[in-house]
Amino acid sequence: MCGIVAYIGPDQAFDFLIQGLRRLEYRGYDSAGVALLDGDMKVYKEHGKVQDLVDKIGNQNTEGNRGIGHTRWATHGEPNEKNAHPHLSPSGDLAVIHNGIIENYATLKEALVELGSVFKSDTDTEVLIHLIENIKTNEKCSLFEAVRLALNEVVGAYAIVILSKNDPNTLIGARKGSPMVLGIGNKPGEYFIASDATPIVEYTRKVTYLEDGEIAEIKDGVLTIKTIDNIKKTPFIHNLEITLDAIEKGGYDHFMLKEIFEQPKSIHDSFRGRIDSNSLKIEMRSLNEFENKIRNLKRIIIIGCGTSWHAGLVGEYLFEDFARIPVEVEYASEFRYRNPVLYSDDLVIAISQSGETADTLAALELAKQAGATIFGVCNVVGSSIPRMTDAGAYTHAGPEIGVASTKAFTAQVTVLTLLALGFAQRRGTISDSRLRSVLQEIERIPAKVEKVLKSCQESVLEIAEKFADVSNFLYLGRGYNFPVALEGALKLKEISYIHAEGYPAAEMKHGPIALIDEAMPVIVIATQNDIYEKVLSNIQEVKARKGKIIAIVTEGDTRVKDIAEHVIEIPETEDALVPLLSTLPLQLLSYHIAVMRGCNVDQPRNLAKSVTVE
Ligand code: F6R
Repeated sequence: MCGIVAYIGPDQAFDFLIQGLRRLEYRGYDSAGVALLDGDMKVYKEHGKVQDLVDKIGNQNTEGNRGIGHTRWATHGEPNEKNAHPHLSPSGDLAVIHNGIIENYATLKEALVELGSVFKSDTDTEVLIHLIENIKTNEKCSLFEAVRLALNEVVGAYAIVILSKNDPNTLIGARKGSPMVLGIGNKPGEYFIASDATPIVEYTRKVTYLEDGEIAEIKDGVLTIKTIDNIKKTPFIHNLEITLDAIEKGGYDHFMLKEIFEQPKSIHDSFRGRIDSNSLKIEMRSLNEFENKIRNLKRIIIIGCGTSWHAGLVGEYLFEDFARIPVEVEYASEFRYRNPVLYSDDLVIAISQSGETADTLAALELAKQAGATIFGVCNVVGSSIPRMTDAGAYTHAGPEIGVASTKAFTAQVTVLTLLALGFAQRRGTISDSRLRSVLQEIERIPAKVEKVLKSCQESVLEIAEKFADVSNFLYLGRGYNFPVALEGALKLKEISYIHAEGYPAAEMKHGPIALIDEAMPVIVIATQNDIYEKVLSNIQEVKARKGKIIAIVTEGDTRVKDIAEHVIEIPETEDALVPLLSTLPLQLLSYHIAVMRGCNVDQPRNLAKSVTVE
C-alpha cells in the first residue's frame, strides 16, 4: 500500500507528482503529500485525498524541478496530517517517502531518542530518515552511503525515495519487498520513480524495475544502481507496453464499471496466442519448460488472498477435474505461519493481480525455501511475484485501477483454465475431442461475456434498486459456482459496505439457514449442470423460509423462474467455464448498489489495491 512518485530533471516536478499521485491513489488514500526542491525544501501535506492536498496548496509556491510525493494507506500512526509523508530529518535537510513497514522501528527509535532525536510523527518512516541523517553526520559519508548503511540496520519492507536540500542534484531510491519502477526520461538528466508504471507511461516508455535490496542513485543526471552490499548492478531497461487509454476512465463514471465492461477483451487477451482449438496447442512457457514435472506431479498448492484466492478455488476444481491432480488452496496469510508440510516435488502457484501482496510473497518465499517449484499467475508485468517464480503466466488483463478486482479475476480464471488443460494434455487425462470442445468454448467466451454484460443491465438495475437498502445478503453456489458465490459476496461487502456471506448452497442447512426470513435476499447461482437438481432443492429450502431469491440461471431455464423473485440468464457454456459468465451480473449488482448507496466505488473505505503490508 501507499503510492510513491519522484521526479528529477529539467522540468517542474509538481504536475507530474500530482498526476502521478492521482494514478496511484488506488494504493491508499488516507493522506497525501509532496516535497519540492528549489533551493529551499517546500513540504505540503494533507489528511485525505490527493484533491484535498491540491486544494490546500492552492496558489502557494510549487516551484522545483525535483520532488517526491506520497499517497498513504496508514499502518503506523493514525491517518492525519502529522503522519502524512514526506517526513523530514531533524535538520530538515532530508525528506523521505516510504511504502512498506520498518518492523524494527521501535528499537531504532529508542536508540535514536537516547541520542536526542525528537519525533514529530508516530510513523516508522520518520525513524528511518532520522537514522539516515544520524549515520550521514557521524560517518561523514555521502547520502548514498548513509542510506546504504541505514538500510543494513533495517528489518522490514520498503520502497523509499530521499531528497536532500544540501545535495540537490541527487535523488536516492531503494526497495525491498515493496515495488519501485524507475523511468528514464527523454530529456537529458530526467528520471521518474513510481510504485508502478502508470504515472510514468505518458512521459517515457523506458523503465527499469529495481530489484529487492537495490539502491538507485541519480546524481548529476547519471543513474547508478548498487546492492545494499555495495555491489554495482547494470540496470535492465524494459519497454513499457501499457497505453494511456488503459489507465484512464474512457467515458465511464468509474474505473470499476470500465473494467467490468472491458472483460470481453481482457479475457480474450488472457488466452490470445496461447491456444489453438484446431491443432489442440496450448502454448505457455511454464508448460513446455516443466513438462516432466507436470507429468509426475503429485500435488499443487495454490496460494492467494481475497479475490485471487477465490480464483484459486476455481483453479482447484479445474486442476482436479481436468488434470486429476490433488490441489490445496491456501490463504497466503495462514499458510506462511502454519508450518505447512511442503515437499520438493510440490508445485506452488501464487495468484496475484498486483504481484506485490506481502502475504503471498512471503508464502511463496517459504515454498521456494522448501525446494518446491513455484509458478505465478499475475497481472502487473515486472512485479515482485513474477520476478521470483520459476515460471508462470501473466494474465494480460491490463491495468486494473478500481480497488475491487473484476477483470483481473476473470483473467486469472481463464489462465488457470489454460494451465489445467495444458497439464491435462501432458498427463494424458483429457481426450482430444474433449480438449477440442473446451478450447472451442473458451474461444466463444468473449462474445458470451459481451452478451451477458448487455442483456443483464436492466434486471441488475431493478434488483439493485429493490435491495440497495438492505443490511445483509446471502450468496449460494455449488461446484464451480461456489467460489463465484464467495466472490459475489466479497464484491458487495467491499464496495457497498453491506454485510454479505457466500456459502456452498448445501451447507446452508448447517447454520446460515437460521438467518433466512422475508427480509433476506439470497442470490443463488443455479446454472444447469450435474448438481442442478440439488441446487433446486436448496432454492426450495430458501423459499420455504420466505427468503427473497435472486437466481443466476442458464438461458431458457424455466424451473427456477417459477420459484425465484428475480432471474438473470447467462448463456449455456461448459460447466468449467461458467464462473467467467456467472460472476458478471454479481460484479454489476455490487457496482450499482454501491453507486445507489453513494459509496466511493473505486476507492472503498479502509481498502487499498496493493496490500504490501502483512
Ligand atoms: C478484492 C480485492 C482484494 C485482492 C487481494 C489480493 O476485490 O481486490 O481482495 O484480491 O488483496 O490482491 P492481489 O491479487 O493483488 O494479490
